[in-house]
Amino acid sequence: MKGFFITGTDTEIGKTLTTGLIVKYFLEEGIDVFPYKPVQSGAIRKNDRLVAPDMESYERITKCTFGEEVNTYVLETPSSPHLAASIDGVSIELKPILEQVKKLRNAHELLLVEGAGGLIVPLNEEATILDLIDQVSLPVILVARAGLGTINHTVLSVMALKQRNIQIAGIVLNQTSPDEMLEIEKDNKRMIERITEVPIIGMLPFMTQDTMDELNVKDLFKNWKMEVLKEDVQSESAAAN
Ligand SMILES: Nc1ncnc2c1ncn2[C@@H]1O[C@H](COP(=O)(O)OP(=O)(O)OP(=O)(O)O)[C@@H](O)[C@H]1O
Ligand SMILES: [Mg+2]
Repeated sequence: MKGFFITGTDTEIGKTLTTGLIVKYFLEEGIDVFPYKPVQSGAIRKNDRLVAPDMESYERITKCTFGEEVNTYVLETPSSPHLAASIDGVSIELKPILEQVKKLRNAHELLLVEGAGGLIVPLNEEATILDLIDQVSLPVILVARAGLGTINHTVLSVMALKQRNIQIAGIVLNQTSPDEMLEIEKDNKRMIERITEVPIIGMLPFMTQDTMDELNVKDLFKNWKMEVLKEDVQSESAAAN
């Protein structure tokens, strides 16, 4: 069964928003899609239990409930996973994550796995998010800032993925700030595609919380290269029938 690994050029770059919106889109298309965030740091303690903010965002965006299978490690310290785990007295291992990926891929038509931060974020003393992506063997969607500074971060991230021969489905450019930088953004898109030869799937506009919650994803993705994501999903569904 099919899936994608959503990574980013940075933390707070829009991976969760992108994941939530793509999940919402495929749910509306009648595809059984599931989000998985294996390692969540910066979890919030509510009534003596830790709540993963990214899972809450998936549920708010899609208006669906996904339950505990969304996370494997939920850690309280808002830091890199290796440090949060060490402070919480936990050791992050790739094995249970890979087992959960296998289980969820068998259980659903499409799985979206969200990383933590960017590619060279340590999960423990040895492994990084990039090592996890390598072992999960899913094509990558790279979320990057649309505006100033993105060419360098995005191209470096693509280089790191290509060095490991990891398939990249495409790049999402996210307007993380309300500042209008139309000329820069247009040129960033052109230059990133030119240098990396990876398609830009689409651009996410800067949105208020209300717009995010009530977004018509079909409208939003009208100008996106959704075929990059859909062809694979459809061919997998056809192969399964
Ligand atoms: N296009 C946008 N318009 C408005 N706000 C945005 C946009 N993209 C992201 N944000 C806001 O920025 C914050 C970070 O976004 P998000 O949680 O998607 O990042 P992330 O890459 O998943 O971060 P993490 O590494 O912590 O998982 C959130 O509060 C989100 O609502
Ligand atoms: Mg996130």
